[in-house]
Amino acid sequence: MASFQAFLNEVVADHRERTQSGEMRALSPVLREHLGADPRGIAVVSEEVPAYRFVDLDVALTEIQERDEQAQLLGIGGGEQRNHHSLGELLEMAGRFQRFPVGAVDYSSLATGPQSKREAVSFGLRLFSYAGSPVAVLQRAAAPRYGNSVARMEILSAAPGVAAALIAEVHELMVLRSVLRGQVLSLGGSDFEPGIEGITFHQRPALTPDDIVLPAGLLDRVHRHVAGVARHRERLRAAGQHLKRGLLLYGPPGTGKTHTVRYLLGALPDLTVVLLSGPSIQFVSHAARMARALQPALVVLEDCDLVAENRDFSAGAQPLLFEVLEALDGLSDDADVAFLLTTNRVDVLEPALAQRPGRIDLAVEVPLPDQGARRLLLARYARGIAFSPAVLDEVATRADGMTASFIKELVRRAVLIAAEANRDATDDDLTLAVNEMLDEAQNITRSLLGTAVGGA
Ligand SMILES: Nc1ncnc2c1ncn2[C@@H]1O[C@H](COP(=O)(O)OP(=O)(O)OP(=O)(O)O)[C@@H](O)[C@H]1O
Ligand SMILES: [Mg+2]
Repeated sequence: MASFQAFLNEVVADHRERTQSGEMRALSPVLREHLGADPRGIAVVSEEVPAYRFVDLDVALTEIQERDEQAQLLGIGGGEQRNHHSLGELLEMAGRFQRFPVGAVDYSSLATGPQSKREAVSFGLRLFSYAGSPVAVLQRAAAPRYGNSVARMEILSAAPGVAAALIAEVHELMVLRSVLRGQVLSLGGSDFEPGIEGITFHQRPALTPDDIVLPAGLLDRVHRHVAGVARHRERLRAAGQHLKRGLLLYGPPGTGKTHTVRYLLGALPDLTVVLLSGPSIQFVSHAARMARALQPALVVLEDCDLVAENRDFSAGAQPLLFEVLEALDGLSDDADVAFLLTTNRVDVLEPALAQRPGRIDLAVEVPLPDQGARRLLLARYARGIAFSPAVLDEVATRADGMTASFIKELVRRAVLIAAEANRDATDDDLTLAVNEMLDEAQNITRSLLGTAVGGA
């Protein structure tokens, strides 16, 4: 106890000395000098932004601050405690207890693209002049550990109306300069914290139409519905036509719905894309808001049947699906936003969609490949492997009822079998692979259906 007491005394003495010697600057006088008034007498205007828009907030405030050549950026010391208090409280305590002196600015490195980062001010006080008046803005990132799930700026300005004008311009710049624009993003959360933790940027996949085997015209129709409307935006608007659109891709698992989405992302480089799949569909209203701000945009809801069956928050029946439908409907008609839903359980979704018509204006079935498509898929996935046309024909026939992903795996299996024997794949390997896989498919189906082998 005694040595701890001694230690504390030392810390306090040191602190006082450094403050008095000017080595450590107290916060209040600095603010008073900048604002021309006692900061404690000025109301703090606080504005929250979602955590995933924090980089945009940093970009916007930096740009505004840089217009003032005399601007300063300061940090606030005082350790973790800072995170528990609002700017008003910090000022109060800084004045009374000489805590929270001027300190180092905190930065954090945040993604601004699949391969780029920005050092953003995660806790820092910007002092600059705005619209002719001095303002101080405390910028802070979300800090879930301290219960702050959103980012915020806290503005001090003695002049009436200045804080509101600054907030308005910040919001404008956050949209105009958004690092999210034109990116492929997914929103993520964690199971432990409510709300969105952050965004993940994705590389745009580069697939060519040749990489996808689908019935003739299917890819074009989907592409046209998403891109054509965007391309003729002005003309459609002028003719009073709506731009908002909803697409549904449905079909059995492994037929290429996700593959088609990936192709579209590459084919539409100007679109901002928000990808939501499975549990992250709960962020659909955030995604819709983002899409509207960053249009032209595409919101992809992958495997959205999962939502239809999700009764986790069951206040009523299927509230999450309801939210999805609301988001589809909630955007104004002239928003250049496309919603693309995929499902392999259209039977689950259909009733809900049928009850509220107008949400989906193009529904496209992605079917199981027919004989010709299977043959093409084999050729595609066996490019560069010396299989004979005869065995490809035969395997295509035998794989009747199987999916594109089955065929892809089939070729890989043949190559693997050959590799085990330390040689290149031959026709026999492909035949062996198809025998094995058809057999497995049979067994799985049987066990799923619960029928014993040989019948019961
Ligand atoms: N039509 C296709 N043409 C070429 N390759 C395909 C096609 N369909 C599927 N594949 C291959 O199979 C893989 C799995 O397909 P994909 O993920 O697109 O299926 P899906 O329809 O989205 O299934 P699920 O309903 O299970 O989500 C793809 O990554 C691709 O390599
Ligand atoms: Mg899929």
